[in-house]
Amino acid sequence: MTRLKIKEILSTGKTGTKTLAKGWVRTKRGSKNVNFIALNDGSTIHNLQVVADTGKFDEQLLREINTGAALAVEGTLSESQGTGQNVELLAEKIELLGKADPEKYPIQPKKHSLEFLRENAHLRFRTNTFGAVFRIRHTMAFAINKYFNEKGFYYLHTPIITASDAEGAGQMFRVSTLDAVNPPITEEGKPDYSKDFFGRPTNLTVSGQLEGELGALALGEIYTFGPTFRAENSNTTRHLAEFWMIEPEMAFYDLKDNMDLAEEFLKYLIRYALEHCSDDLSFLSSRLKEEEKNKPQDQRSMDLVEKLQFVLNSEFVRLTYTEAIDILKNSKPYKKNKFQFPVDWGVDLQSEHERYLVEKHFKCPVILTDYPRDIKAFYMKQNDDGKTVRAMDVLFPQIGEIIGGSQREEVLEKLENRMKEMDIPSEEMWWYLDTRRFGSVVHSGFGLGFERFVQFVTGMGNIRDVIAFPRTPKNAEF
Ligand code: 4AD
Ligand code: MG
Repeated sequence: MTRLKIKEILSTGKTGTKTLAKGWVRTKRGSKNVNFIALNDGSTIHNLQVVADTGKFDEQLLREINTGAALAVEGTLSESQGTGQNVELLAEKIELLGKADPEKYPIQPKKHSLEFLRENAHLRFRTNTFGAVFRIRHTMAFAINKYFNEKGFYYLHTPIITASDAEGAGQMFRVSTLDAVNPPITEEGKPDYSKDFFGRPTNLTVSGQLEGELGALALGEIYTFGPTFRAENSNTTRHLAEFWMIEPEMAFYDLKDNMDLAEEFLKYLIRYALEHCSDDLSFLSSRLKEEEKNKPQDQRSMDLVEKLQFVLNSEFVRLTYTEAIDILKNSKPYKKNKFQFPVDWGVDLQSEHERYLVEKHFKCPVILTDYPRDIKAFYMKQNDDGKTVRAMDVLFPQIGEIIGGSQREEVLEKLENRMKEMDIPSEEMWWYLDTRRFGSVVHSGFGLGFERFVQFVTGMGNIRDVIAFPRTPKNAEF
């Protein structure tokens, strides 16, 4: 008999048909005569109820059917007596594929804290919450590729090991095969990287953008979607040392085109989630409601599905950094000294400022543009005022910055001057500058932090809970 996935059984299974299901036991309950086993195989949030008459099976076998054990069950589908499912499986044959000692198995049929599950990240996929999160994460990754494919963008795989520092933030992980204790030394007493694997210092990439630009200036429209690495020591709910980023890069796009694409893209993904992940979303939404029960009414956040629909139907507000600073300076929290970080033209906005603008002032997603050039990367298009650049950050409720991007400086001389001012060695970047030497055109792009986006869609408060095996300072277990 061929095995059917539980998702299929529950949606199209007909009563009276013989069926084989395989999966892991979530719970077993029952009476002297009958056992109800909730079986889950990961294909859906819903369990298949297996009904096993005590008399039909070996006592030892029944005793070993515990939470976490793996089973193959053959039987006949019948109309369910209980609520919550249409069909159940009347077991005729049960094979215990893998035992799970109930004394030792960490995932018990009760509420575990997210912290506990993080320590058991290897098994947390077997919970409803993480099953839902990772099915949604998959669906979003698929929708991203689908969106760009439909628009004629090419998926470009940019390197993970690089010799350049795209963001100029200097928060990179070195990649080296030199002996860490006794490296070869130069005459100046420094490690001799000419003896290293690549013959030069190399790092894990902080962004695929620079290589992405090379692709866009030939293929027209490309996107990257891969792991990126930042060695910043931030222990927040929105930072990872290893995260995934989607970076579209488009020839002939100016900042306005860039913003339009970002807004359309985000809405496409949210609509796709609502249409294809409704079971998982409604589970996560009730989970959040449960979590918020103890909060006072006015501090509870919007229902998850309502929030997604709200963003889908709202037009993102667009304003400049300078206008945002004015709003912040006239805000209640500013006047009452409630912001932890300073608000002044020229300083980088902190998450508390971004969230004030989105959640309190505009009450919808916001795109901020034209930031001071001194707080942004060297490659951004310089405005004529000599002070600002054509940057754009998309700010989302509960998340803050979800996208960072810009129009790029396409004028060779301006780009070289900016690099000189910022001490970026232009000789090493000759290949990047060549695009400005030969057939340079207006172009733009942005980066969407995949985990921050999945956090938004799932409502998960901590970024560590939307990536399978989070990498954060002092944490690389599993
Ligand atoms: O704003 P960032 O640093 O922009 C870039 O890297 C550009 N090269 C993108 C481009 O124009 N092609 O990062 C982009 C996004 C942020 O808005 C945020 O969502 C996410 O990447 N991000 C992080 N996500 C998790 N952990 C971190 N440490 C992150 N740093 C940035
Ligand atoms: Mg940024």
